[in-house]
Amino acid sequence: MKSNNQLNGVSPRLCVRPYKLSDYKSWSTAVIRACEVDGGKDSFRKKVLKNRQLRKEDRSYVFGIFHKKTNEHLGEIEINIIVRRNFRWANLGYEIHSHYRNKGFAKEGAAAVLEIGHNFLDLHRIEAVMPASNKASIKVARALKMKKEGIRRRFIPMSEGWTDAMVFVSVR
Ligand SMILES: CC(C)(COP(=O)(O)OP(=O)(O)OC[C@H]1O[C@@H](n2cnc3c(N)ncnc32)[C@H](O)[C@@H]1OP(=O)(O)O)[C@@H](O)C(=O)NCCC(=O)NCCS
Repeated sequence: MKSNNQLNGVSPRLCVRPYKLSDYKSWSTAVIRACEVDGGKDSFRKKVLKNRQLRKEDRSYVFGIFHKKTNEHLGEIEINIIVRRNFRWANLGYEIHSHYRNKGFAKEGAAAVLEIGHNFLDLHRIEAVMPASNKASIKVARALKMKKEGIRRRFIPMSEGWTDAMVFVSVR
């Protein structure tokens, strides 16, 4: 398993890293402010332990995004392994709490995680997929210099049914 130090990324304003149990206060404050679900300290503990297990199994890497100066929790970025053997292929997902959006945090944090994905997780191909309606997500992918590869038909399950996805990729 990769050590947590290798999974720590920094950028001018941010620190992206796997969660620690001591992050509960920062995480919970942001989650409550964004009116998301805070299941309490115990559920955060389960999340941290589950993430640890997923990393150990090389299935998924979850990064909390924290402000370097204030330690505010801003959002979360995930790398999910799609196929490791031969292809070294994964998906990148990002989410910023509603009250911190449009400040460039997704672009900055995801750039740091993309580097970790290629350099430390040894991933060859990292893709981001989103419906064409998700303009903010498309702008993030473009800012990361991911290349548009095409449309994956009827790929995303949404309330209105299976929706086409735009596919952006970073290949090293
Ligand atoms: C997508 C998301 C992560 C972007 O986070 P963010 O921190 O606001 O993103 P950034 O500030 O780094 O950049 C967003 C860009 O999109 C633009 N933008 C935001 N909302 C927009 C909209 N409705 N239409 C067009 N552009 C939009 C911003 O102006 C900014 O543009 P810029 O590159 O010209 O500066 C955030 O909106 C989010 O969490 N959405 C819900 C989860 C989600 O959709 N995740 C992606 C799944 S594929």
